[in-house]
Amino acid sequence: MKHTILVTGGTGFIGSHTTVELQQAGYNVVIVDNLSNSKPEVVDGIEKITGIRPAFEQVDCCDLAAMDKVFSKYGDISGIIHFAASKAVGESVQKPLLYYRNNITSLLNLLELMPAHNVKGLIFSSSCTVYGQPSPENLPVTEEAPIQKALSPYGNTKQINEEIIQDFIHSGAPVKSVILRYFNPIGAHPSALIGELPNGVPMNLIPFVTQTAIGIRGQLKIFGNDYNTPDGTCIRDYIYVVDLAKAHVKAMERVLDNPSTDAVEIFNIGTGKGVSTLEVVEGFEKATGVKVNWEYAPRREGDIEKVWADPAKANNVLGWKAETGLEETLRSAWKWQLKLREDGVQ
Ligand code: UD1
Repeated sequence: MKHTILVTGGTGFIGSHTTVELQQAGYNVVIVDNLSNSKPEVVDGIEKITGIRPAFEQVDCCDLAAMDKVFSKYGDISGIIHFAASKAVGESVQKPLLYYRNNITSLLNLLELMPAHNVKGLIFSSSCTVYGQPSPENLPVTEEAPIQKALSPYGNTKQINEEIIQDFIHSGAPVKSVILRYFNPIGAHPSALIGELPNGVPMNLIPFVTQTAIGIRGQLKIFGNDYNTPDGTCIRDYIYVVDLAKAHVKAMERVLDNPSTDAVEIFNIGTGKGVSTLEVVEGFEKATGVKVNWEYAPRREGDIEKVWADPAKANNVLGWKAETGLEETLRSAWKWQLKLREDGVQ
């Protein structure tokens, strides 16, 4: 019997896809989510895909006593994947204390409870945002590239959380951790039973593209066409969410079942390919045959010009590689948008 894993934020976008991959790899999953940005029906979607209903607790990770009870109730939790966090960059600028309170308190609570409940491994969701705009000689960006001052409270919480984990483990705590720095996760499960469910007007590119394509939004604005890039639009490393989910399974095996690894390890999780915003929109049209109404608009404040991963460490050390091409990924996002329409959700 494989380990039991606590997935915080397990009804969210990346958390739900990771729960599916964990279950398919034989792990038992306990989801904790406060449902602040997701719906309980996601658990049904996970069950339909895997045939197994994960345990679900509607609990806020900031509630130490309630989290203590969850660990006691399930008794045999060996590892945690910590997704639960507030993640809207713009909102974090407006409400910094909310972001610091949510994103830091929840991690502190988990770390405090881990030794008490004999939980050995923690996988932490970090972001390429910690690199800021890497200098040209640092592109593609490796894990060794300098961390730069965060551009938002959201980004700062990722940096601070990475440091908290390192300090805790260096203090001799009986815990191991893998920190995964995600690039831009997109797409949806091929079954279209789970996917990304943005609240209100999407801030991220792909949900805005699919909502425009289906007619919920009138027009996509491509923010800036005067960047120092081949077509003038920003460049990112778009990673298929199912591939990203699989990286967590590898990371969990590593922290729990490989005694020879360092107590804290960091991996970039990206494809290694930089793709421009314009290429995404054109790629979507090609992949789906659906036109997107778009126009150029001024730059968005705080946007990074270009960043993409050097995933060599994840490929060679973690034994993980992004496998799915951009067009297939974009088709999965479209299929999910069509399913939302069919279900009358959006
Ligand atoms: C942003 C954050 C990142 C965070 C992620 C969480 C920054 C610099 N990065 O990623 O730290 O982890 O959100 O979701 O804030 N775009 C358009 N039109 C749109 C929407 C987006 O042109 O309507 C462009 C953006 O300018 C950008 C690209 O599409 O160049 C991707 O944007 P988005 O999906 O928001 O992700 P990031 O900004 O890379």
